[in-house]
Amino acid sequence: MKVLVVGSGGREHALAWKLSQSKRVEKVYCAPGNAGTALVAENVDIKADDAEMLNDGLARFARGNRVDLTVVGPEAPLVAGIVERFERDGLSVFGPSRRAAELEGSKAFTKHLMRRHGIPSADYQVFEDFEKARAYIEDRGAPIVVKADGLAAGKGVMVSSTVEEAVEGAKRILVEREFGEAGATLIVEECLRGEEASILALTDGETIAPFEPVQDHKPVFDGDKGPNTGGMGAYSPAPVVTGEVMDRVVKEILVPTVHAMKKEDRPFKGVLYA
Ligand SMILES: Nc1ncnc2c1ncn2[C@@H]1O[C@H](COP(=O)(O)OP(=O)(O)O)[C@@H](O)[C@H]1O
Ligand SMILES: [Mg+2]
Repeated sequence: MKVLVVGSGGREHALAWKLSQSKRVEKVYCAPGNAGTALVAENVDIKADDAEMLNDGLARFARGNRVDLTVVGPEAPLVAGIVERFERDGLSVFGPSRRAAELEGSKAFTKHLMRRHGIPSADYQVFEDFEKARAYIEDRGAPIVVKADGLAAGKGVMVSSTVEEAVEGAKRILVEREFGEAGATLIVEECLRGEEASILALTDGETIAPFEPVQDHKPVFDGDKGPNTGGMGAYSPAPVVTGEVMDRVVKEILVPTVHAMKKEDRPFKGVLYA
């Protein structure tokens, strides 16, 4: 079959590379792709970073070239509704619907969902008003974390070791709108300690198949220093995630999240990140 991978990052290179190894796959396209995907797929010059117009272009390409399956990598087109757009044309597409992609598209949505369903996560408050956020940050003290609600290419989270730094971060997000509308809402979160790991799982909205755990390093400078960025490298498996930890993540986070999304009429199919 013919597969179209949407996106232009390292993730899409990995997806295209693996898909191209399947005996069932005769052709892989990647839109827009990158120098890496060019080695394993045919790059197609259609960008995926804008909402409706581009989704139309992609759907037209998929129809015109008889693509059997489209795999969407980045959050932005998912949040913009690319899955609905493709399904409207009867095209098979892998990824969450717009409503389900809120899990990636809005941290406030996700925090509220987790709180409603008793899924463990750092304590938090949500703000639209800077002075209220400042008062809360001063009251809670440092270390503390401030986050832009929406998509910010991995740069909208500031883990702050002082109150001043957190207040400055809140100002950049809410007042200066450094991340545009993604920063119209601010999340202030309790700072968690310890080692971090990522667990990704495939789900069709009913069944969950977790992958090996991963550790990924967000700070931009050597030695895990500096502000967070969109990911400076990752490795897997991550031995810090023991079998016991993995069982808890599946039982206490992944399964309840898939159930919660289904119950709230936003069934999630695609890759879930915890
Ligand atoms: N409450 C927290 N305590 C400590 N570190 C955090 C906290 N929230 C986020 N971080 C750090 O910031 C990174 C990015 O935050 P996250 O909420 O996952 O946003 P995104 O992945 O959308 O950029 C995390 O991977 C983690 O390293
Ligand atoms: Mg994250």
